[in-house]
Amino acid sequence: MSEFNYRGGSLWAEEVPLEQIAERFGTPTYVYSRAHFERQYRAYADALGEHPGLICYAVKANSNLGILSLLAQLGSGFDIVSGGELERVLLAGGDPSKVVFSGVGKTAAEMRRALEAGVHCFNVESEAELERLDAVAAEMGTTAPVSLRVNPDVDAKTHPYISTGLRENKFGIAIDTAVDTYRRAAQSHHLKVIGVDCHIGSQLTELAPFLDALDRLLLLVDQLTAEGIALEHLDLGGGLGVRYRGEEPPPVSDYLGAVKERLGDRQLGLVLEPGRSISANGGLLLTRVEYLKRAEEHNFAIVDAAMNDNLRPALYQAWQDIVPVAPDSGESESWDIVGPVCETGDFLGKHRQLALQQGQLLAMLSAGAYGFSMSSNYNSRPRAAEVLVDGDRTYLVRARETLADLVRGESPVPEREPEE
Ligand code: LLP
Repeated sequence: MSEFNYRGGSLWAEEVPLEQIAERFGTPTYVYSRAHFERQYRAYADALGEHPGLICYAVKANSNLGILSLLAQLGSGFDIVSGGELERVLLAGGDPSKVVFSGVGKTAAEMRRALEAGVHCFNVESEAELERLDAVAAEMGTTAPVSLRVNPDVDAKTHPYISTGLRENKFGIAIDTAVDTYRRAAQSHHLKVIGVDCHIGSQLTELAPFLDALDRLLLLVDQLTAEGIALEHLDLGGGLGVRYRGEEPPPVSDYLGAVKERLGDRQLGLVLEPGRSISANGGLLLTRVEYLKRAEEHNFAIVDAAMNDNLRPALYQAWQDIVPVAPDSGESESWDIVGPVCETGDFLGKHRQLALQQGQLLAMLSAGAYGFSMSSNYNSRPRAAEVLVDGDRTYLVRARETLADLVRGESPVPEREPEE
């Protein structure tokens, strides 16, 4: 099921034709469907059911305030990895007591701010970080709620850049030394041990790696319980994949059903940090063909979106479908869809069979996760607009950047004094 469908020969987002959005807001523009985000969030909330716990949407996947606010309105919690993401959650009306703070490099200032705000838990990734958090909490005369991110050493069988649960990755504390670290944490007056967490990777399309990781975590939980360190929750991170092209990730209900079964009668709440599975297929990148260029080896369609707008193809050789907004009945040919950035790696898609014309609108699908949030100003390109569609309404949730935005905070230096 998709909220982006063809009607009368052109592509719509919910009840709004994309042609209308392009006319009103220009291109390139990210277009999101509110209904999609709501449906995906509810799939998690329903699958959790009466089991105590939190669905903490991973802000990094799509951190637009419009998106965060609609999730906050549904009661979602949030997984953050920086002080910036915390401010976004607060500005969007998110409840800090439903926030988990992940990430390997939290600064003392970020810890202070999160303690002031009253986050639910710090997902601590190293002993050094634990010491710093202890010191910051002591200095503030408070207690920090902590979970240790353990590295369960399982192979998530996904792209190496988005695989995080192997021993060789920089994330988490090795599971075999975690008990020692827990003992140390449990002795501190300024730390309150409340959980354990892991995140083994992203775009997983099978349950087995999640369940292997869970089994390893449960062994640890039982060992800790035997030592008198009782945890309140277990956080399995994010990682459930989506369909970009033919993948068949398991439904959320199967995933959480299997997880709850394995928890058995342990009194453990469940925290999840889904990003992509809530947002990816709720967004597309609307772009216009600027030029068609036929060369000996390849046909190139140069569009007005580029790697600075969506880095995924360049960085991970990721495949996302690219479809015409108003399909042409002409003969299709093979095209490389490329952007205006001066890099050979600047492509959105290669060898796409399409009938193209200059000036035509294209939609790059599955762009709601790690699309805008990974965008940059490379080549001094103002970042795209973002529009949220809700039924027949459209909200400009981020205005296209202006040339003034591009140089904000920068300044030329004065001329050198001539030397005597
Ligand atoms: N929790 C933690 C601690 C994470 O590191 C991540 C993602 C998530 C949750 C959310 O994972 P998700 O449910 O979205 O798979 N830029 C890459 C994906 C990087 C994921 C990083 N961590 C991409 O575009 O494929």
